[in-house]
Amino acid sequence: MARPSTPAEHIAGRVVLVTGATDGIGRQTALQLGRMGARVLVHGRDPDRGGELVEELKALGVRGAAFFRADFSSLVDVVKLAGALKEYRAPQRVPPAYRGLEHPNALIGAIKRLLD
Ligand SMILES: NC(=O)c1ccc[n+]([C@@H]2O[C@H](COP(=O)([O-])OP(=O)(O)OC[C@H]3O[C@@H](n4cnc5c(N)ncnc54)[C@H](OP(=O)(O)O)[C@@H]3O)[C@@H](O)[C@H]2O)c1
Repeated sequence: MARPSTPAEHIAGRVVLVTGATDGIGRQTALQLGRMGARVLVHGRDPDRGGELVEELKALGVRGAAFFRADFSSLVDVVKLAGALKEYRAPQRVPPAYRGLEHPNALIGAIKRLLD
C-alpha cells in the first residue's frame, strides 16, 4: 500500500482518541480530525458538552463518534476509561492506529507505576 503523502491521507479512516476534548484546544482538534475523516472518540468530564460534541462530529459525517467521561485526577476513573475503551473496541475490527488500546492492562500498569 502506498504511504500517505498528506496529513489528511494519514488521518482519514483512523480511530483517534482526543482527551480533554470538551473545550478549548482539544475540542478544536477533535473537530478538525473529524473534518479530515478520522473516526473520533472524545473524552472530558462534562457529559453534556461531550454529548454536544459527539452530535457535532456526527453532523460532520464522523462515524462511530463517542464520548468517554473520566476525571484524570482519579486513578479509578483512569482505569475505568481504559476498560471502557477496551469494551468499545472489542466488537469491532479496527485499523492499526488504534492498536495501542489493545493493551489497556499495560496502560493501567504504566499509569500506576507513575503514580506510585
Ligand atoms: N489555550 C491556550 O492558548 C494554551 C496554550 C498553551 C498551552 N495550553 C495548554 O493546553 C491544555 C488545554 O488548554 P485549553 O485552553 O484547551 O484548556 P481548557 O479549555 O481548559 O480544556 C481543558 C479540557 O481538559 C479537560 N480537563 C480538565 N481537567 C481535567 C481532568 N482533571 N480530567 C479530565 N479532563 C480534564 C476539560 O474537560 P471538562 O471541560 O469536560 O471538564 C476540557 O475538555 C492545557 O494544559 C493548557 O495549559 C493552552
